[in-house]
Amino acid sequence: MQAPPLPIRSIHHIELLVGNAKQASFYYRNSFGFDQVAYAGPETGNRDMASYLLRQGNMHIILSTPLNPEHPHSEFLKLHGDSVLDIAFEVDNTDTTYKNAIERGALNVREPKITGNDKNGKIKSAAIRTYGDTVHSFIEKGNFSGTFLPGFEPFAIKGKSTGILFPDHIVGNVEDRKMDYWVNWYKSVFGFHKFASFDDKDISTEFSSLRSTVVADQNETIKFPINEPAEGRSKSQIQEYVESYGGAGVQHVAFLTGDIVDTISLLSEQGVEFLEIPDTYYDSLLDRVAPIDEDIDVLRKLGILVDRDDRGYLLQLFTKPVADRPTLFYEIIQRKGCRGFGKGNFKALFESIEREQKRRGNLDL
Ligand code: FE2
Repeated sequence: MQAPPLPIRSIHHIELLVGNAKQASFYYRNSFGFDQVAYAGPETGNRDMASYLLRQGNMHIILSTPLNPEHPHSEFLKLHGDSVLDIAFEVDNTDTTYKNAIERGALNVREPKITGNDKNGKIKSAAIRTYGDTVHSFIEKGNFSGTFLPGFEPFAIKGKSTGILFPDHIVGNVEDRKMDYWVNWYKSVFGFHKFASFDDKDISTEFSSLRSTVVADQNETIKFPINEPAEGRSKSQIQEYVESYGGAGVQHVAFLTGDIVDTISLLSEQGVEFLEIPDTYYDSLLDRVAPIDEDIDVLRKLGILVDRDDRGYLLQLFTKPVADRPTLFYEIIQRKGCRGFGKGNFKALFESIEREQKRRGNLDL
């Protein structure tokens, strides 16, 4: 079932479709601390989309808005709201990568196409479809020497940096009983392997539960957990997502930081809202995870969670959804040797999510 690895190098960027990219760029600069780097739109020759390129650490995010109602992305926005459209990979050869993916059963979104000009060089890109309406682009930069991608021109506005480095993992929520399908899809199309899995015994509260399997590339630098709802006394948070989103889609992107105390302090000052963790969580924390370098009172004040595996520990915290639908949110994570995803925190976290679900009227008991 597991195919040879598809020749992808790394995550090149993540593209979000949003209702108003100009304002979203302001939010991601001033709250999350990304720098705006470049812009593509009518003024640069892109007639029907406005796109802002943001960067922090080694992470690039494109925020895009279609400029007319006939644009196919307008339909995506109507269905899903502001959310992740594309997790794009840099590749050495778009033709080969795309051809392999299609032969292994992936669905076409965009056949290989050359864009650019003689002055700055050209790129070749293509795209395939993954869960829901989410896509994976393949980007071959070749001799391209222009700003980021063809169509972009420099448009720099500095953000208030918060120390975000790189996407540690990107999580997809899929429909009931579809997790195994998508895990197998990443195995057979990308040659990814199963990295970890959690069942409803690991991830359940009194009221609801979910299942999750993590797939990773050969180097284990690209990690995609796939979640599906599981039966519980009430509606799973994954089911709430699927109903609000209109299908499967990206649930959260985890931003890696080298100093979570610093990052969370800055993000909180800059208005990012985090899930609230009950004080009692910290009463027994050290029994479970000690020794740790951080001051537990600082962690308690900021609501930072800690978990440990046999290799070390991690610190993490989750934002509330960043749009009005209870769909996309972000995680901030720092790893000190630990390769896990915070299994020991699942219960405290999901109870916190459930308190929010209940406030939205989506946790009927
Ligand atoms: Fe996560």
